[in-house]
Amino acid sequence: MDPIIAQIRALARTSDEVGRLELQQALRKVQMEIQTSKDFLYNIANSQLLMGTICLGADMKLFRTIASHDGSVNVSQLAKTTQASPLMLERLLRYLGSNGVIKEVGCNEYQANTTTHVLANEKGEAMVYHGFDFHGPIVRAVPEFFKENKYQDIDSATNTPFQKAHNTTLSAFDWLVQQPKHFEALQKVMTSIEGSEWTVGFDLLDSEAAKIPSTSPQPYEKPFFVDVGGGHGHQCIQLGKKYPALLGRLVLQDLPAVINKLPPIEGVKAESHDFFQKQPVTGAKFYYLRRIMHDWPDKECTKILQSIVDAMDANSRILIDEVVLPDTGARWQATMADISMMIALGGKERTVQQWHALADSAGLQVEHIHAYTASTYTSIVVLGPK
Ligand SMILES: C[S@@+](CC[C@H](N)C(=O)[O-])C[C@H]1O[C@@H](n2cnc3c(N)ncnc32)[C@H](O)[C@@H]1O
Repeated sequence: MDPIIAQIRALARTSDEVGRLELQQALRKVQMEIQTSKDFLYNIANSQLLMGTICLGADMKLFRTIASHDGSVNVSQLAKTTQASPLMLERLLRYLGSNGVIKEVGCNEYQANTTTHVLANEKGEAMVYHGFDFHGPIVRAVPEFFKENKYQDIDSATNTPFQKAHNTTLSAFDWLVQQPKHFEALQKVMTSIEGSEWTVGFDLLDSEAAKIPSTSPQPYEKPFFVDVGGGHGHQCIQLGKKYPALLGRLVLQDLPAVINKLPPIEGVKAESHDFFQKQPVTGAKFYYLRRIMHDWPDKECTKILQSIVDAMDANSRILIDEVVLPDTGARWQATMADISMMIALGGKERTVQQWHALADSAGLQVEHIHAYTASTYTSIVVLGPK
C-alpha cells in the first residue's frame, strides 16, 4: 500500500487547487465504497463527538499549548498547564490523536501536526466556536423544524431552525448583534476567509481602476467602491493594497454593532448603514456585496438590491461576490454552505438561472459572470441596469 500512498501524496503536492479537490473527492468516493455499513454508522457518530471534543480542546487551550512546543509534550506537562486531570487528558488526547487532530509520537506523548496548527490560532478557534455554539444547536433543530413545517423549502429569515434552536423570534442577524460572543466569532470567520483572488483577471475592475488618478480624491468626487455589509473591512484593505490609487475612494458599510468597534482603516471611510435602507452613497462606480445575498431569502435580496439601484448612476455597477452553483455535480463544500444558509438564515447558494431571476426582480440584469476560483465556484456577478 505504501507506494500507492506515496503516489497520492505526490499527486496532491503537484496538483493545482481544482486537481487537489478532485483528488480528495475521488478518495472520499473510494472510502465510501470500501466501508462497511458499520464503518459508515460509526463515522456519523464520530463526527458529532469530534466536533465537541475539538471545542473542549480549544476551551482548554490544548491546541495552542501543543503547537507552542517545537517537539513533543507529554500528558503530565499538559495536565500542569491545563489543570485538568491526567486521566481525563490521557483519554481525550488518545481520542484526538486517533482522529489525526494531534500526532501521537509515543505513550502519552503528543506533537502538533498541520491540523493542530490550524486549530491553534484565533481564526481556527473562531471557526470551531461558530460551528459548534451557533450552528450546532441549529443542526439539532433541523428534523423537528421540518416536521412541523411539513417539509417545505425555507423562504423566510424568521422561520428557520435557527429560531427554534436559539429560542428567539428574531432573524439571525438581529439576534447576533445582541450576542457579542457569537457575532465576534462570525466576524472573525469572515475575516479569516478574506481574499483578493476576485480581482485577478477581472478586466472591468482593472480598466476602471486604471482611470483613477494617483492624486488625492477631490471633494466632489464620487467614491469608487462601496463594500456593502463589508464586516471588518478586509476586502477594502486588500483592494487598497492592490490599487493604492483607490485609497481615499473606498467606503465600508456595515451595522453600527460592527462599525462602532472598528479601529480606523487608512484610506477607507467606514460608516454605519443598514442595507435594507436607502443607500446613502450615490453614483459610486462599484457597490460590492460579498457573502451577503446567500444570507437572505429572495424577497430580502430583492430589497437589498433595490435600495442600491436608486443610488446608482448610468456607470455604476453592482458586484456580487458569491458562489454560482453548477446545475449538476456540485461539490459537498458548496452544498454544505447552501444547506447551512437555509437552516440558519433562510438564505441559499444560487445557480446561474437563480442569479438572473434575482437581478430581474430588482430591475437589473446580469452583464457578466467572472468565475475566479473554479474549485469553490466563487464568482463576481456583475449587475447593471436593464
Ligand atoms: C456573512 S457576513 C459577510 C461579511 C463580508 N462581506 C465578507 O464577505 O467577509 C455578512 C455581513 O452582513 C452584515 N449585515 C447583516 N445585516 C446587515 C444589514 N441589515 N445592514 C448592513 N450590514 C448587515 C453583517 O454584520 C456581516 O458583516
